[in-house]
Amino acid sequence: MGKPGAAPVVPRHVAIIMDGNGRWAQQHHLPRLSGHEAGRKSVKQVVQAAIDHGVKYLTLYAFSVENWQRPREEVQGLMGLLRGVIREELSEMGKEGIRLRTIGRRQDLPEAVREELEAAIEKTKHHTRLDLILALSYGSRVEITEAVQSIAREVKAGALDPEKIKEETVASHLYTKDIPDPDLLIRTSGEMRVSNFLLWQISYAEIHVTPVLWPDFGKKEFADALADYARRERRFGGI
Ligand code: FPP
Repeated sequence: MGKPGAAPVVPRHVAIIMDGNGRWAQQHHLPRLSGHEAGRKSVKQVVQAAIDHGVKYLTLYAFSVENWQRPREEVQGLMGLLRGVIREELSEMGKEGIRLRTIGRRQDLPEAVREELEAAIEKTKHHTRLDLILALSYGSRVEITEAVQSIAREVKAGALDPEKIKEETVASHLYTKDIPDPDLLIRTSGEMRVSNFLLWQISYAEIHVTPVLWPDFGKKEFADALADYARRERRFGGI
């Protein structure tokens, strides 16, 4: 949340825009869904790498609000994949001490996925080694809009003085209210965009863009991103 502090050598929170599954599939003459399935292996590797490096929060952009516009078959495929991953990885999450969380409009997800997710969130809520945060039906502008609505409701009810609204007030109405801001944002497949991802929260994040497509991103690439981060000098607007 809010206040920037001294930069640790290992980022406490890493956020990743996992891009390039479709292009990977195309390059391998496979259907797009095979790209997402290959991307699942990268998720597993990166979660393990994050734990090994001592990262405490890992946020993965798994499905954006814009992604609902993709062909029905791809959306259904991704939802099925997500459900399968949660079901199959639940015991691993227990062994590794992973706490599963989500940000985004969980209410948009199909009921079967939501139930699987909510059960896993409940079962893992006391784990402390790594917070694995899946951004699902997530959009930063939607998140900020919902925060503004909620603040406006409090003002209207007389519970909040508009003059007392501070950055912390806004931050405390976001999905990420009890999650520290990302220190490092990684984007795969070379695109120089932030794509409506954590716009408020990445104000001071270091950005690492790699041309590697997500299904080819593994432990080594994660270590490279962390090494790149460790070389940066973070000033938070100071000198
Ligand atoms: C972007 O690639 C990727 C996605 C929209 C989905 C990410 C999903 C996974 C990696 C599957 C498993 C994940 C979890 C957390 C269970 P793209 O399709 O936009 O690629 P393109 O730009 O090359 O078309």
